[in-house]
Amino acid sequence: MCGIVGYVGREGCVEVLMDGLAHLEYRGYDSAGLALQKNGAIEQIRKVGPLASLTKEVAERNGHLSSLRAGIGHTRWATHGKPSEANAHPHLGGGSRVAVVHNGIVENFSELKEGLEERGRVFRSETDTEVIAHLLEERVEAGEGLREAVASTLQRLEGSFAIATVCADDPDVIVAARKQSPLVVGLGEGENFLASALQALLDRTRKFLFVENGEIAVVTPDGVDLFDAAGNSVERELFEVDWDAEAIELGGFEDYMEKEIHEQPVALRATLADHLDADGNVSLGLSLDLSEVDRVVVAACGTAYHAGILGKSVIERLARVPVEVAVASEYRYSEPVGDENTLVVAISQSGETIDTLAAIEAAREFGGKVVALTNTRGSLVTREADEVLLTKAGPEIGVASTKAFTTQIAVMNLLALELAKSKGTLSEDETRSLGRSLRRAPEKVEETLELLSGAGNPIEEAARIFEDARCALYLGRGEAYPIALEGSLKLKEISYIPAEGYPAGEMKHGPIALVDEFCPVVAVLGEGLIREKTLSNVDQTAARGANVISVAHSDDKEAKRISRVVLPVPEADKLTAPIVATVPLQLLAYRVAKDRGLNADKPRNLAKSVTVE
Ligand code: M6R
Repeated sequence: MCGIVGYVGREGCVEVLMDGLAHLEYRGYDSAGLALQKNGAIEQIRKVGPLASLTKEVAERNGHLSSLRAGIGHTRWATHGKPSEANAHPHLGGGSRVAVVHNGIVENFSELKEGLEERGRVFRSETDTEVIAHLLEERVEAGEGLREAVASTLQRLEGSFAIATVCADDPDVIVAARKQSPLVVGLGEGENFLASALQALLDRTRKFLFVENGEIAVVTPDGVDLFDAAGNSVERELFEVDWDAEAIELGGFEDYMEKEIHEQPVALRATLADHLDADGNVSLGLSLDLSEVDRVVVAACGTAYHAGILGKSVIERLARVPVEVAVASEYRYSEPVGDENTLVVAISQSGETIDTLAAIEAAREFGGKVVALTNTRGSLVTREADEVLLTKAGPEIGVASTKAFTTQIAVMNLLALELAKSKGTLSEDETRSLGRSLRRAPEKVEETLELLSGAGNPIEEAARIFEDARCALYLGRGEAYPIALEGSLKLKEISYIPAEGYPAGEMKHGPIALVDEFCPVVAVLGEGLIREKTLSNVDQTAARGANVISVAHSDDKEAKRISRVVLPVPEADKLTAPIVATVPLQLLAYRVAKDRGLNADKPRNLAKSVTVE
């Protein structure tokens, strides 16, 4: 949450910062701002609302700013203090000699603020960040250089943060630091950059240095120096990125979410290609001995948590190993049970979610072996885990997760197959046969996308049912249940319609009271016995006036009988069916949000990476 960016080098700094912020806006869009070094002073420009307001302001001052060569920028997701110009970053110390941008939370800010006020510092915002600006300025006024000031200030901060700071007295220098929140430095020729995420800088450089926990980076046009907390110089290996900037352009789609839904066949193909050959042989390349694993814990948040619930069913069904799925923010504060034979799978698209990182720490305490399942190479979670499984979904910009989810399911399926192989619960032949079916997931998703855009446009028809909806109920059983959960999360996060995902059989124990013509029921029918049982549960809602929308095979007569609209999906094997059933629910949520005139990519109050507790 919150994006930070910095640049030192040539004229045109403002353009670099604004481009970087545009790529980071998914991290927060309550306000945005810049602090620029200008003739021995700092020029601060801040605007409330999405980045467009700041862009307009900058355009109006264009000639005036174009010669500047160093500065920092920020896009905010509010934690302390409402979205307002006064609370927007960058924040200045009282004498306006130092400016700072911050991503994270200073947990002891009240206490620090009290001390600063006692020493005569006057606060202009309600943010926790402003204490950092005042503390830095105090140190600079006491004669410390900016790096020393940052080092001594960091010792006083509790919580998580990535900060970047400029000082009017130190032209062409940015000093940055991090504890838990992410920070990368981008390397150029005669110019250097920094940002919360490398995609902010991909159209400027492919060469990066990751700043590690507790480190300070001093960035000048001629180089970057890294220091540890004790002030020792640190060497860091260069990280070269293989994505290109094109991967984060819209390419003809109206929004990133729509684009990312349609990218799922490619994303699945790329993800599976790494670990599954044409004969169905699975190889995750883990060095852990999976035959030793006697328990699995999945820790994750939001959509990734739903992928974990599905993973539990598949692992327990195929490998007969018990699986606990934990919401990471709860797990970290529980007293987790486990030992060195517990495999902990931390799922996180961004690899930055603070609660998931903390869950890993908790698992470490009992000696658990941690595998990170993430879409982001080099992210924090990859550095905390023993082993890494990557999804190859490519950058996911839409706040509502889509292609990350289906690729996470694909990898959880592979993990289940690999575990089953190691535990001997499936023969080589059985594993290969399931592997071969799973390889067809990308084409099944392609087929689904075609079916859904075909005759009668079922997605639009289903979305019309939501015109007067007051709430919605998403029902499924077995492996269709996490898909129902995920479908309801998609709807509520981008259309703001309250939606519940429920096990279809449990619905009679409470939620059925919601049902009337203004509470559409979305049924994920699934296969076999589960389908029969779900059908009968859903029939009970139809009898009470619900408008039912079913995800079912196009020739499913029973589904047609009970539903106002059937969202057709092709026949698929058991491992692929949940992936396929997800797609119509993503498109449905997207359509409902668009019909309501909402921004599907940037739903209110949310941010793509949740780096605060
Ligand atoms: O980056 P992560 O996978 O750790 O993010 C977890 C959740 O914040 C994320 O899935 C969130 O629920 C999405 N907005 C859902 O669409």
